[in-house]
Amino acid sequence: MYIGVDYYPEHWPEERWSTDARLMQEAGFNVVRLGEFDWVNMEPEDGVFTFAKWDRALAALAERGLSAILCTPTAVMPAWVAHKHPETLALQKDGTRLTWGVRKNNCFSSGTYRFLSQRITRAMAEHFADTPNVIGWQTDNEFGNPFCYCASCRADFQHWLRRKYETLDELNRAWGTHFWGHRIQSWEEITIPDDATSHNPSACLDWQRHFSWMNVRFQHEQVEILRAGCPRHFITHNFMGLFPELDYYDLAKDLDVVSWDNYPVWGAPEVRYDSSMAADLMRGLLARNFWIMEQTAGPGGWGAYGRNPRPGELRNVCYQQLAHGADAQVWFRWRTCTAGREQYWHGLLGHDGRALRRYQEAAQTAGEYRTLEKALAGTTVKADVAILYDYDSLWAVRIQPGYGGNDYTTAVRRFYRALFRAGVNVDLIPPTADFSLYKAVFAPDLCVLPDALAEHLAAYVKRGGVLLSDCRTGVKDATGLCHERTLPGLLAPVFGIEIQEYDAVPGNVTHAISGRAPIAGSFNATLSTDWVIPGTAEVLASYQDWHLQAYAAVTRNRCGDGWGYYVGTVAKEDAFYDAVVAAVLASAAVQALVTPPAGVEVSRRQGPKADLLFLINHTEEPKAVTVPAGKTELLSGKKTRRELLLERFGVAVIQL
Ligand code: GLA
Ligand code: ZN
Repeated sequence: MYIGVDYYPEHWPEERWSTDARLMQEAGFNVVRLGEFDWVNMEPEDGVFTFAKWDRALAALAERGLSAILCTPTAVMPAWVAHKHPETLALQKDGTRLTWGVRKNNCFSSGTYRFLSQRITRAMAEHFADTPNVIGWQTDNEFGNPFCYCASCRADFQHWLRRKYETLDELNRAWGTHFWGHRIQSWEEITIPDDATSHNPSACLDWQRHFSWMNVRFQHEQVEILRAGCPRHFITHNFMGLFPELDYYDLAKDLDVVSWDNYPVWGAPEVRYDSSMAADLMRGLLARNFWIMEQTAGPGGWGAYGRNPRPGELRNVCYQQLAHGADAQVWFRWRTCTAGREQYWHGLLGHDGRALRRYQEAAQTAGEYRTLEKALAGTTVKADVAILYDYDSLWAVRIQPGYGGNDYTTAVRRFYRALFRAGVNVDLIPPTADFSLYKAVFAPDLCVLPDALAEHLAAYVKRGGVLLSDCRTGVKDATGLCHERTLPGLLAPVFGIEIQEYDAVPGNVTHAISGRAPIAGSFNATLSTDWVIPGTAEVLASYQDWHLQAYAAVTRNRCGDGWGYYVGTVAKEDAFYDAVVAAVLASAAVQALVTPPAGVEVSRRQGPKADLLFLINHTEEPKAVTVPAGKTELLSGKKTRRELLLERFGVAVIQL
């Protein structure tokens, strides 16, 4: 198992390197990630490469048994690149170029920048292919910025559209350019839709896809070179969890392993739902375990710093990821830098370079991971429940939310959090996934629903699957045109309902809902109501207000061997989602092994030889959890009784 830190030897005198490497080894580390911002020192002049310093740094690390992941350094262009080739700097909407500095300054269609990126990648690949402790590569750093509005990007967009649509007739149809007289008569006429609140939504959706694709292409050019030059090394990229600008499924396709950067410690301690959801998405990108490439090591911030992780919390953050399928653990960063914008972004060591509390906690965690290593081998998260996570819908909703306050990721969160509280494992999956692997699929806010996807979902339900959708599901097709159908369109037989009208509800207005078994209770609807007319569906919740009394808030329908659940509104209460999720899980015959108390997270990793139950206390109070008795808790070595006590921020790993 790889455990280590992100290390910046270029920030410290060479005399310090051996001390750092020794302290890393003493902490039980065996890997470092390096080099992502040091292009200028590897190529100080156009086409002149020097790697001697990096050879010495790698040798100092090797002496302490530390393997290395090198990065292509293209996230920061050297000043000479910007100076000599100003067209490589991204052009902003106002027509001015980004000022060189900070990082991520480049235009992704610039031929010059792509050439320079490929050249430094090739030089590094050739130089480090046989360096014994180099094991892999990270492409660039956190792809996703900046958007660029230059002539080259515009031409690139036009070419991309030409390849996608082939004819102008098809482009005009797909974008619906008969509206507002926007018919395009030659490819060169196409502009960049630079305001997603007023341009044609179909054009905006394609522009977002094109930006994503340009990043993927940029990475692909580096990957091809690394594969040819370093066939023994693996390739990864450090993703950013729920970051919304790129189609992460696409970015992951070229990689051997997905890794991601997790920074959840900010305000008051709270249940870290989003870190779990992000982990489940990161595992879903390639449908396998992932790495943590940057993990919170202390207070973070570029100006003001955030909260210092409490004793036990750094370890807790790590276990949450381990529980969700992390196979490697790398902290960002080793030592807090004394210079630059990240002076207050703290590492395991402070400015003083001493191995103090945070280092000790990381070392303790590393030691524990070693004892778990054998049990963990070959295990991953097995889930009976999936949430469909779709970037097209995410972007389409962002371009045109429909009802005010609609946000795709927030919509997914409502159901994810209830599933988390229910204590069941969840996979986040792409629309192309095989749904038959799951007993229940949640597809909230699925605005973009191409016919083929609707047919797959309907077939899944007929064969016994349980599907849940909500507000305005399937309103658009793949190019962002509204379907010419009454909602829920092709899913009507699944849900047994019809939606002739719908209503946006201001955030400060609520409509009372009353539910009956299995979702008995009183709740409040807000933001949106689909005026759901039940057909074959059973009504599980209805509205009280006079104008909504004819409509259902929640329905359930038998379809073939499966069930279709429809939630026609957004409820204010968590309890509403807990009840809906419980009903769906019951229909799908999914049962949690452990029902956690509030603030405690449960996750399970299974393999051919092991079945591990993780319990994570996200609170500052001790928590008692009812667990299977007579099993071994691997961190203490003790046998479990029915009640297991987790200390504040405590964790347990039970071998089932
Ligand atoms: C990101 C980057 C790192 C560092 C941290 C903290 O995750 O990848 O280089 O900047 O944020 O700001
Ligand atoms: Zn550009």
